[in-house]
Amino acid sequence: MMICPVCKSDCIRCAEEVLAEIDTRYLACPGCAPELHLSKTARLSSLPKRIARCKSCGRATLDAVMLDALRLLQRFGLRDEDEGLRSVGSPLIDVGYPLAYSPRLGPKSLIIIGERYSKRAAEAMIQEIPEIKGVILSRGVPGVHDAEEMAQENVLLAGCDMRADVVSSLLGDLVIYKNQSLIHIEFSRQNAPKMRILEQLYFQGKLRDVVDGLSGPGTLGLMCVLAGARRVVLNDAWQPAIQNVQLNLEVNKRLLGIEEILHPEESNRAVGTDPVLVASARGASQIEVYHGDLTRLFSRANPAKLCLIDSFPGTDTADLEKACSCCSEVILI
Ligand SMILES: C[S@@+](CC[C@H](N)C(=O)[O-])C[C@H]1O[C@@H](n2cnc3c(N)ncnc32)[C@H](O)[C@@H]1O
Ligand SMILES: [Zn+2]
Ligand SMILES: [Zn+2]
Repeated sequence: MMICPVCKSDCIRCAEEVLAEIDTRYLACPGCAPELHLSKTARLSSLPKRIARCKSCGRATLDAVMLDALRLLQRFGLRDEDEGLRSVGSPLIDVGYPLAYSPRLGPKSLIIIGERYSKRAAEAMIQEIPEIKGVILSRGVPGVHDAEEMAQENVLLAGCDMRADVVSSLLGDLVIYKNQSLIHIEFSRQNAPKMRILEQLYFQGKLRDVVDGLSGPGTLGLMCVLAGARRVVLNDAWQPAIQNVQLNLEVNKRLLGIEEILHPEESNRAVGTDPVLVASARGASQIEVYHGDLTRLFSRANPAKLCLIDSFPGTDTADLEKACSCCSEVILI
């Protein structure tokens, strides 16, 4: 069992377990009432007082949870009568998966991220609304945006912000956990274009020796491992991202054919500069995980046949591309 570093409970499960139940996790039971599809902009006074949970399975519709949250925020003076469900914030299901239907939510299965929350209101949401697992105050896109600047982070006000996305491609499925207050939000669906690029590279026989230079929690690099790459190097300057990569090695250990994970060096900086080899894993692939600035990675790691650069939209990648030009091919994702 893996202990969650945030809530110290068992909220992190191995990938096989998550994948085995994902198709049915959010499905309505025969007793579940249909989703009401409330207007997201209607003012609070025109909305129902509360939507009951299902008598058979005990789960709630998304509207039911958001309605409880809206009423609570209003009670704390943080929303006024004119504001509707949309004003609550963005709901993130704890295991993200592209759904063609509205999810039914069990205990601690929803993380809410938004603005105009207080710590006390967030704590009350965790106590009073059983489906809410964590409440995050949003400030911007977390992570390193420019190695010269300070990193940005959001604030976990209450509960636990650890959630996973199921990432699927023709190469297989992975479960990628992230501390959602510290890692940018990427919906499962948004991963699809990146997966198409990886699939193409795979069919061209290019996923053999790969660097995932801006790995975030490890989505692309670990998919390359799943594709059977001989060596994969993952690197990010943001410590929370690199901690999530290490967690995701454990979570997906069997799927990735990992036999042993070592932690040769430690890094205590929030934003890394010179590369520090924080993990290496042996098994079907040789995996190396570095915490550092990508412009310095190849002062330490061997260049690869293929280097992937998946930067935040709008980033000037000229310096990164130049630093990675020692690799045979550089692909901007
Ligand atoms: C768009 S995200 C990567 C997403 C990731 N590939 C995924 O699919 O989950 C960009 C990442 O680049 C990192 N980053 C930005 N500049 C960097 C630099 N100079 N060196 C290393 N990492 C950097 C950020 O911390 C962030 O995690
Ligand atoms: Zn947790
Ligand atoms: Zn039900």
